[in-house]
Amino acid sequence: MVNIAVLGYGTVGSGVVEVINTNQEIVNKKAGDEINIKYVLDLRDFPGDPVEKILVHDYDVIVKDPSVDIIVEVMGGVDPAYKFVKRALLMGKSVCTSNKELVAKHGAELVAIAEENNINFLFEASVGGGIPIIRPLKTSLTADDITEITGILNGTTNYILTEMAQKGSAFEDVLKVAQEKGYAERNPEADVEGYDACRKIAILTSLVVGEHVNYEDIHTEGITKITKEDFQYAKAMNASIKLLGTSKKIGDKFYSMVAPFIIGENHPLVHVDGVFNGIFAHGNVLDDVMFYGRGAGKLPTASAVVSDVVEAASHLKENIKTIWSEEEAKLGEFSECKNKFFVRMKDKGLDDDQMMDIKKAFGNVLYVKAPTVKDELAFITDFITEGEFAQRIQSFADVYSVIRVDL
Ligand code: HSE
Repeated sequence: MVNIAVLGYGTVGSGVVEVINTNQEIVNKKAGDEINIKYVLDLRDFPGDPVEKILVHDYDVIVKDPSVDIIVEVMGGVDPAYKFVKRALLMGKSVCTSNKELVAKHGAELVAIAEENNINFLFEASVGGGIPIIRPLKTSLTADDITEITGILNGTTNYILTEMAQKGSAFEDVLKVAQEKGYAERNPEADVEGYDACRKIAILTSLVVGEHVNYEDIHTEGITKITKEDFQYAKAMNASIKLLGTSKKIGDKFYSMVAPFIIGENHPLVHVDGVFNGIFAHGNVLDDVMFYGRGAGKLPTASAVVSDVVEAASHLKENIKTIWSEEEAKLGEFSECKNKFFVRMKDKGLDDDQMMDIKKAFGNVLYVKAPTVKDELAFITDFITEGEFAQRIQSFADVYSVIRVDL
C-alpha cells in the first residue's frame, strides 16, 4: 500500500480525492500498488463529508508519519506551501503539486532536493491543468533542440477573449459575467494581468533550457486594455486576439514574454477557445507539436495531479531525473526582441503629414480598416525591436491601441 496525504481540500484537493475514489481500480493498476489517502490537511472542518475521518489540522501529524510516502500539495501560494513541501522532501517523501507559484519560484531547488533524497518532486498540473505537457517535455521531446514554446496558458483570460471575439462585448462586461459564473476569481488580477501565464511560461522555459528562468525577468502584459474595437479590426483581418506566453530561441538565447497577440487563421493556437489551453512547441527535428485540453477546473487538474501520484508511487525511492538546474538562465534582452505591431491612433483627417510621420517612424506599414470603426488610422508595422518601437511610438499622440501581431 502507498499512503498519500493531500494538503488542501479546496477545488483541486477535493478533485484529487474524487479522482482516486472514482478511478481507484485503474489508478492502483497503473501504480502497481494500492493508493490509500491516509490524511487530508485543511484548516477548515467539513462536517458530513466522508473526508472528516481522515482530516487533520496539524501538518506535523503528516510529515512525521513514516508511513506517508507521497504528499500532494494543492493549497496554492508560496507560503506555507514552500515550507511544507521542502520539509516533506527532506523527510524522504515525494511531492506532487499543482502549485505554479511554488514551482515557478522554487522548482529548481525542490527538484534538486528530491534528487538528493532519491525521491520525486512532480508538477504536471502546474501548467496547462489537465494537459500533459511537463512529462512530455521531460521524457518525450528529448531528441530535439526546442526552439519555441508558445501557449495559451490561462483559461480565464482565454474565456474572456473568446467571449469578446464571439459576442462583440467589452472586457469589463465579460469579466463581470465570468466572475458571476465562477470562471474568474473575485480578484482577477493574476489572470487578467498575465501573472499566472507568466509563471507558467517561466516553468516551461526552465524545462526547455534546463536552468532556472526567473519569472520576474519575463516582460508581462495582460488583457485589460483590449477593446471591442481591437476585435473589430482582428475580425476584418480574419484573425483573433489571444494572450500568449511565448519563448523563442534566437541565436543561443531565449526571448520570453507574455502579451496579447493578434494571430491569424493559420496560427496553430487560433482555434483554442473558451477555457481551453493550447501549447505549441517547435523542435529542430520534430517540427511542430501541439498539446490541447482543459487548462483549469477541478477534475482535469486533479487528473494531472493523480497522474503524478501514479508516477511517484511506481518510482518510490527512485528519482526520475528532471533537468532543471538552479543556475539562472540568461534570457535575451526584451528590448532586442523583434515583433510586428498593430497600432490604432486618432485620424487627424485631411492631413497627409500624419502618414508621412508614420512612414518616417516605422517605414512602410500596412494600413488596415475595420468597417465599423471611424476616425482612426490603424496599421501594422514590419518587424521592429521592442526597444525601437517603444521609443518611436512616443512621438505620436492619441494612440488607442498597440498589440503585437503574428499573422
Ligand atoms: N486561473 C488559472 C486559469 C487556473 O484561469 O487558467 C489554472 O492555473
